[in-house]
Amino acid sequence: MKFPDNFLIGAATAAHQVEGNNIYSDFWAMEHVPHSVYKEPSLDAVDHYHRYEEDIRLLKGAGCNAYRFSIEWARIEPTKDIFDSKEMEHYKDVLEFCHQNNITPIVTLHHFSSPKWLIAEGGWESETTIEYFVNYCRYVVSELGHLIPYICTINEANMGKQITKIMKRMMGSDTAKGKHAEVQVGLNVATETKMEKYFRELGETFAIDPRKVQPFLSPRTENGELIIMKCHEKARDLIKAINPKIQVGITFSLYDHQALPGGEEFVEKEWQEDFLGYLPFLQEDDFLGVQNYSRKIHGPEGIVHPDEHTRRTKMVYEYYPEALGKVLDFVSKHWTKPIIVTENGISTGQDEERVEFIKRALAGVYCCLEKGIPVIGYTYWSLLDNFEWQLGYDQTFGLIAVDRSTQTRYPKESLSVLGEIKKSGL
Ligand code: GCO
Repeated sequence: MKFPDNFLIGAATAAHQVEGNNIYSDFWAMEHVPHSVYKEPSLDAVDHYHRYEEDIRLLKGAGCNAYRFSIEWARIEPTKDIFDSKEMEHYKDVLEFCHQNNITPIVTLHHFSSPKWLIAEGGWESETTIEYFVNYCRYVVSELGHLIPYICTINEANMGKQITKIMKRMMGSDTAKGKHAEVQVGLNVATETKMEKYFRELGETFAIDPRKVQPFLSPRTENGELIIMKCHEKARDLIKAINPKIQVGITFSLYDHQALPGGEEFVEKEWQEDFLGYLPFLQEDDFLGVQNYSRKIHGPEGIVHPDEHTRRTKMVYEYYPEALGKVLDFVSKHWTKPIIVTENGISTGQDEERVEFIKRALAGVYCCLEKGIPVIGYTYWSLLDNFEWQLGYDQTFGLIAVDRSTQTRYPKESLSVLGEIKKSGL
C-alpha cells in the first residue's frame, strides 16, 4: 500500500502546546489563577519557539513531507490593534525553514488559545470577535500568505458544542465511568466550589463579569456558533481575496458514531450536530480538516460506555484506530472536495501501541483512497509530547519525547515508522 507521491504525511502541533511562554494568551492567564483547574501551567512548554529547526529537521529526517502548526494570535497581537512585527518575522522564519526542507506547511490561524484582551472584550460569544479575528488574519496573510499553501482558519470549530454536550451529560445522571470516556481535550470538570473560585478569579484576571469569560474551550450558545462560522467565512473570503492560491479550510473534531440496534437516531443527531449542520458555511472552502481519535457507540438509551475489558488509551477513551477510516467514509458522502486528516493520534506510554495505531489508522485512509475519496494528507497528532491543556504534561501523544528539564529531544520509533510509510508504503 503505497500512498501517492504528492500525499502529505507528517505531524501536527499547536503553538500554545509546544512553544512556551505564550504570556499574552488567555490560557496563560487561566493556568495562573490561584484556583486554576489546569493541572500545571504551560511555562516553557517544549520550547519549540526556539527549537523549531531541530524539530522540523527530525520530521524531515524521518522521511515526512508535511508539518501542521499554528500561528499564535496572542504573540502577533499581544495588545489590541498593536501588531508585533518581530513575532511575524519568527513565523516567517519557521515557514521558510519548512520550505528549505521540502516540508509543506499547513498553518492553523486559531488553535484554541486567544489573546487575553480578546476574552476581556467578550471572547467567543461577542460579535466584535469577528472583526478582530479578520484583522489578525489580514495582517498574517498579507505578510506571510505567499509562504502558506494551506490554511486552517479555526481548529475544531465544533469544540464549543461538544463541550456543551459533555457538560449537559455530566450534569445529568451520568456515571463516573461516563465521565472518563468524555475526556478528550483535557476537559475535566472539577468540584463545584473549586469551579466557583476559579470563575471568580477568571473574572478578576480578565476584568469582566465571570459569567462573560468566554475562551474558545467553553460551552457555546447558538449565537456563539454563528460567530465562529462568521469568523471562518470572513477570514476565508479575505484570504482568497489576498491570495487566491492559498487553499483554505477549517477543522472539526469528529467521532466515529456507531449505532447498536435502536441507537440509529442518536447517531443521526450526533452527526447533524458535529458536522452536517456546519456544511452551509463551508461551501466555498477548498478543503476540510478532519480530526479523529476514537469512536462512540449509541444504543437505544444513548451513549454506551466502553466496559472494563475495552482497550483504552492513556486518555481513557477507546483504542480504536479504525475510527478514522469510518469517519472519512461518512464525511465523503457529504463532502466531495479534498480532505486533510489534520489530527489523529494516541496518547500512550508504549510506543509500539502508537506504531500499531498509526498503521491501522493509515490502512483505513488507504482504503478510502482506493474508493476514490479525495484525502490529500495526514498529520499525526502530535510531533512532540506536549502540553495537553487542562491535563498538563502527563499525556504523551508525541512521535518525539522531550525531557523538559533539558529540552532534549528523543525521537521515538513511531517517527521513523511514519516516515517509512511515506517513503515505501504500509
Ligand atoms: C484538538 C486538539 C489538540 C489536542 C489533541 C489531543 O484539536 O483536540 O487540537 O490540541 O491536544 O486533540 O487531545
